[in-house]
Amino acid sequence: MSPSSIHPFNVNSVRTLARELANATPQAILSQALRCCDQEVAISFSGAEDVVLIDMAARTGLPYRVFTLDTGRLHPETYRLLEQVRERYGIAIEVTFPDAGEVTALSSDKGLFSFYEDGHQECCQARKVRPLRKKLATLDAWVTGQRRDQSESTRGGLEVVEVDPAFSGRGEQLLKFNPLANWSSRRVWEYIREHEVPYNPLHERGYISIGCEPCTRAVLPNQHERNGRWWWEEEGHKECGLHARQARSG
Ligand code: ADX
Ligand code: SF4
Repeated sequence: MSPSSIHPFNVNSVRTLARELANATPQAILSQALRCCDQEVAISFSGAEDVVLIDMAARTGLPYRVFTLDTGRLHPETYRLLEQVRERYGIAIEVTFPDAGEVTALSSDKGLFSFYEDGHQECCQARKVRPLRKKLATLDAWVTGQRRDQSESTRGGLEVVEVDPAFSGRGEQLLKFNPLANWSSRRVWEYIREHEVPYNPLHERGYISIGCEPCTRAVLPNQHERNGRWWWEEEGHKECGLHARQARSG
């Protein structure tokens, strides 16, 4: 199936494409993504996997777009990485910010660390999920760096391409490509070394999965990477909502 034949998408054509691409290389899946939607597709960028996708996209010779959600709470090292990637690949990074009124209200009411008491959902909704929803409303498809082995419970069933179950609008389907779904962390890091892909220096200090500064910490040898995220919450709750499996209002 050619990528143009799934646009406009329907659930069945996307399922067929997912079957066809199930064992394809990340590069092949990414090429399909970049060709699918007349430039209305973008790679979401925050961490190591995403820079691998950017590097692969650059090698295709196809035009590609990149966006990031600046939550206002990222590590200084992450901001430096964003800049390093911008310069290395000569790309514009489309930066999306949270609504100023919303974060002002939350911070004024509850301070800057309410997530340690109340759980991370309220802050993640304001700083990540609603800004993402706004960004995705301008796109037909997005590309993520998710891998199945990041979390058996929440990402174990990840498809390489799917209709986004959380952010598709009423009557308007949003495509979501996960070209690295089949890759392990080890394979990602082999690619990074082989192609000298820029990475966050926090990885040299025991960090594996990196999100916002107050909600991320280094892990011990052999601890799972998600143990470094929202460590005060239970395993099945370690998702901020960017990759929800069902629609949510707001
Ligand atoms: S999270 O939901 O727990 O924060 P994770 O850090 O595993 O997500 O990243 C998975 C993918 O989500 C990344 O590869 C990237 O595609 C996307 N993503 C996560 N955080 C951001 C962000 N701040 N900006 C843009 N994309 C992001
Ligand atoms: Fe807020 Fe932490 Fe979620 Fe970042 S990860 S948006 S700081 S709760």
